Amino acid sequence: MFDPTTVRKDFPVLDRTVHGRPLVYLNSAATSQKPRAVIEALVRFYETCNSNVHRGVDALSEEATDRFESARAKIARFVGADPRGLVFTRNATEALNLVAYSYARVRLGAGDILLSTQLEHHSNIVPWQLVAPEAGFEIRYVPITPEGELDLDAFEEIVATGRVKLFTVTAMSNVVGTIIDVSALAARVRAANDEAVVVVDGAQSVPHLPTDMLALDADFLAFSGHKMCGPTGIGCLAAKPELLEAMPPFLGGGEMIRDVTLEGTTFNDVPYKFEAGTPAFAEAVGLAAAVDYLNALGMDAVRAHEVAILERAIPALEALDGVTVHGPKDPARRGAALSFAIAGVHPHDVGTLMDREGVAVRAGHHCAKPLVRALGSAATTRASFYLYNTVEEINALCAAIETTKQFFLPDAGPGARSPGRGQ
Ligand code: ALA
Repeated sequence: MFDPTTVRKDFPVLDRTVHGRPLVYLNSAATSQKPRAVIEALVRFYETCNSNVHRGVDALSEEATDRFESARAKIARFVGADPRGLVFTRNATEALNLVAYSYARVRLGAGDILLSTQLEHHSNIVPWQLVAPEAGFEIRYVPITPEGELDLDAFEEIVATGRVKLFTVTAMSNVVGTIIDVSALAARVRAANDEAVVVVDGAQSVPHLPTDMLALDADFLAFSGHKMCGPTGIGCLAAKPELLEAMPPFLGGGEMIRDVTLEGTTFNDVPYKFEAGTPAFAEAVGLAAAVDYLNALGMDAVRAHEVAILERAIPALEALDGVTVHGPKDPARRGAALSFAIAGVHPHDVGTLMDREGVAVRAGHHCAKPLVRALGSAATTRASFYLYNTVEEINALCAAIETTKQFFLPDAGPGARSPGRGQ
């Protein structure tokens, strides 16, 4: 395992203060910080070989194209994908929209079920809802248990209809951290319908867990660069190339074509058929630098570090009067996105007070309203950890929670169980 205090030195922003206090950044599920290696890779690219890719015969353009395609190969390897199936998108959201418009809209119809879950981020709910009326398929959702796990009996009941033609699930919840045993569920879905495909939202899992598309048994895997130490504005859809080949394009424009006449267009090979317009090539190079950084630490070590953080953070939070941790309590079952409630204090007030203490957390519905509602709330406060977070920062989180309680519930007294005025 690595030493997070050494790792922190690679992240310049972690040196800053907020409101006169050292920054305690516990919002990596929203976006991760960037190591110097990624920042420098972007600067170096712009300073030494910036030129549009796949569009020139000049040396600069060829070099930029090589760097872009090497980045694709490296990022594909990182998730066990075929580079021909690795489409660059803006983010995981766009990757899921691509599958909704170019696969679900075309391949699913009346009588088919698209099965999603109540654990999902809006990006794994809304795209399917947008195309369902035109395609005519039905959307069903696997409900969650009070612990934030999928209700497997309900899953089984829906799958047993044999009508599930597309199953889409997050591999790790952005709100309650639940890790899903995707391959087990995928096997069940495929056994019930051999035409079914499996879509995985890896936005939270790819930055935090070793990932192999084949081991997940995924047909499509969506993830974002900015949550895994990479730049914003770049994400990926990793897919089985033969599926992409059979799909119509998502966006039209330059680069995705083979030939264009005024009467019609033929399309480029995959993955380029799905990359209309100038791609985010500098960002791809930056994301490849992020992959190098993560590989150097080792994804097993990243996961081990986060389990160690959770082993301390969950009991520490639960020991505080009035504090409830949402989601699975067993670190083996979850990632490091840790939502909690302080009885009697609204999460937005918690977030604001904690910010004054220098502790950056996210408060709200986390773009997962159905999930947060299922927890019986309209919002949660979420502390999310990553490879640069330390045990001292768990202590800072607990201290900031106590300060918040003192401010909003002064009558409760230090350590006293707060009165639970509701949220
Ligand atoms: N999806 C990101 C989050 O959970 C933005 O905060």
